[in-house]
Amino acid sequence: MRDLPKIELHLHLEGAAPPAFIRGLAREKNIDLSGIFREDGGYAYKGFDHFLQVYEAACTVLTGPEEFRRLTLAVLEESASHGVIYTEAFLSPEFCGGADLAAWRDYLAAIEDAAAEAERTFGITLRGIVTPIRHFGPERAKATARCAIETFGPFIRGFGLAGAEMMHRPGDFSWSFDAAREAGMHLTAHAGEWGGPDMVADTIRDLRPERIGHGINASRDPALVEDIAERGIVLEVCPGSNVFLAAVPSWRDHPIADLMARGVKVTVSTDDPPFFHTTMTKEYETLAKVFDFGESEFETLLQTALSAAFCDEETRGRVKARIEARRG
Ligand code: HPA
Ligand code: ZN
Repeated sequence: MRDLPKIELHLHLEGAAPPAFIRGLAREKNIDLSGIFREDGGYAYKGFDHFLQVYEAACTVLTGPEEFRRLTLAVLEESASHGVIYTEAFLSPEFCGGADLAAWRDYLAAIEDAAAEAERTFGITLRGIVTPIRHFGPERAKATARCAIETFGPFIRGFGLAGAEMMHRPGDFSWSFDAAREAGMHLTAHAGEWGGPDMVADTIRDLRPERIGHGINASRDPALVEDIAERGIVLEVCPGSNVFLAAVPSWRDHPIADLMARGVKVTVSTDDPPFFHTTMTKEYETLAKVFDFGESEFETLLQTALSAAFCDEETRGRVKARIEARRG
């Protein structure tokens, strides 16, 4: 499972930070973060809202571009060790200099530098999706949209929406999504992880994304599932994250297999792997165990992710060639 070539489309860069990495930076900078770690060294939190608080506390040690260069390299090395050959990461200018464009350019240069090094060293390609934080509100999202549009190019490919899903309505972010779409950027948004089918439907109507982060609660409305399948909207499904945060009661109850059977385009990702005690290998192993996924299902997931990736065609071709090379 570990060696199977994989593509991951839903990964929060800071959320992928190994706890030891964050603890090490805290020690270097004399920042007291003891409250966010368990005795065994993992992140300590209860439930989604608290997770977001601990996440933001961990980000306080990522104080400059150099910290993001080291973070990016550490995250990509770990992903590559699980067979990931292409990954898209949510990048938040809010955590990279407070959504100031000049600062964002410096952070981004460091992230891109690390991505190039990781591609040479570990054979993994990274592309970025600029993501405002929903609970910071629509006005701050506009500053993030400006950062996204100004740096849209071969590396920054898309615009997204993360954070507390139940705060604000999707339409509050239409200005930012319209601006990103007009600039030619690809679009995705978290919806239907906590919100119901109405949140997914409003997100599709008001933000018009090509992909949806999670989207699992759409499964409660058969007509909406049919609509998503017909439109070819891709779901970035993160089953381990959903089970760990109790967005679904158990792996058995996860709608991933059902959504695929109903013709929805589905991909699999880890979301914030160390926070949810998962890896791409674990996701694949559990899908095999619980839903009897085998060669054909994993091939479908891979091809769906390859087609749904926001990269340019030259990069897609290179990733395709890498898949074939891995297979020998
Ligand atoms: N969901 C929503 N927002 C987030 C997440 C997540 O898993 N991680 C970081 N921001
Ligand atoms: Zn997410």
